[in-house]
Amino acid sequence: MMKEIYRVAILGCRGRGTAAARAYHVHPRTDLVGLCDLIPERFNTLGDELGVSSRFTDLDEMIEKTKPDIVAIPTGTEFHYELSMRVLEHGVNIEVEKPMCVDLEQADAVMAKAKEKGVKVAVHHQGRVGASMQAIARAFSEGRIGDIRYIYGSGKGYYGGYGLMNIGTHTINDILKFGGRCRSVVAAATRDGHPITPADVVPSPSGMGTIAGEYITATLQFDNNVTGTLLQHRFKKMDSTAYAMELYGTEGRLFWKSSGAWLLPQPHFAPDGKHDKWEALTPIYPEHYDPQKGASQDDYWFVEEYVRALDEDRDHECSGEEGLHVIEIMMGIFESAAYGTRVKLPQERRDHPLLRWRSESGLGAPEEMPRSYGDWLAEEPNM
Ligand SMILES: NC(=O)c1ccc[n+]([C@@H]2O[C@H](COP(=O)([O-])OP(=O)(O)OC[C@H]3O[C@@H](n4cnc5c(N)ncnc54)[C@H](O)[C@@H]3O)[C@@H](O)[C@H]2O)c1
Repeated sequence: MMKEIYRVAILGCRGRGTAAARAYHVHPRTDLVGLCDLIPERFNTLGDELGVSSRFTDLDEMIEKTKPDIVAIPTGTEFHYELSMRVLEHGVNIEVEKPMCVDLEQADAVMAKAKEKGVKVAVHHQGRVGASMQAIARAFSEGRIGDIRYIYGSGKGYYGGYGLMNIGTHTINDILKFGGRCRSVVAAATRDGHPITPADVVPSPSGMGTIAGEYITATLQFDNNVTGTLLQHRFKKMDSTAYAMELYGTEGRLFWKSSGAWLLPQPHFAPDGKHDKWEALTPIYPEHYDPQKGASQDDYWFVEEYVRALDEDRDHECSGEEGLHVIEIMMGIFESAAYGTRVKLPQERRDHPLLRWRSESGLGAPEEMPRSYGDWLAEEPNM
């Protein structure tokens, strides 16, 4: 139902909760009506900054008292499933940080609960709606690269399986904007120079479920003969600027990063000697966005898109359905790399393919590993 102002509550007031709260705070169509954290110091810091006095340690109490239209769930990934289910039980729209969940059983349950309650789920893949993606989308829709033939995406150099869950979730979601539904996946994953074995299946850092592979290369097959390649390779030194997507068209190429967008106006298969310079595209912002007010442009765009979606009673572009499809692709990549097969999507089996693989090989659950990435790497044998 369209409202002049949408009421928003934040569940989790640390890094990402602060970023989300700032965007909802400054957007003219949303009001921050409540903050919740288990640690009062965190909601006090954020509440004092933004002038929000309704502060809670219990999320159910927050929702009952503040009656939000949207609850944002920017918490550690291992809590996304449980907290999404609890909030959805109240019949409230949610936005949950990425990755939406750690496996398909969880993501299916979240989507079923949202459907039962008649509410919307969005996943905070803000790059897909940010200013540089808006510029890419405009150039693409104006036909400046012709028809898409191929899409490339890369991560930032984390250990591959962790990079897939952490950054690949964004990149895949970006690729889906142009590729559409992914029909099948073929992937290779290595660790220490060898194809992964069931013994290489480990708990992810940062509570992102179960992973395997130091270097992952995946090809994704879309409709209309479009293929994509996703690289999640561990670099000796992390390079966040490597997180990027490139679209190869019959008449040109588009290059996306969160910090910019470029067009090369010649076919991808041969330099023509005349149009061989990348042209920077102008980022596109909502007309009421003011960078001085403290919200990042892509989080602000994410809010703007939620407002438009609710006004039009449609899903956010970064919807739960799309987030679930991203998890299908990520689980498909792990399954393909483990079993050495092409995985058709959507897959029928929804359990975690790496745990299945391990258990079929007679190994029990993997041993616990540290949550922090630095400590995790230090404990990863053979690194
Ligand atoms: N979209 C992006 O660009 C981006 C960037 C970085 C991280 N992330 C994602 O954000 C998430 C982590 O966000 P963060 O770094 O701000 O997390 P964090 O762990 O630093 O903060 C989460 C906060 O939520 C609170 N919390 C947890 N459970 C709660 C509960 N039941 N009730 C109330 N409060 C609760 C914690 O006390 C904590 O203050 C991860 O899923 C990560 O993948 C997204």
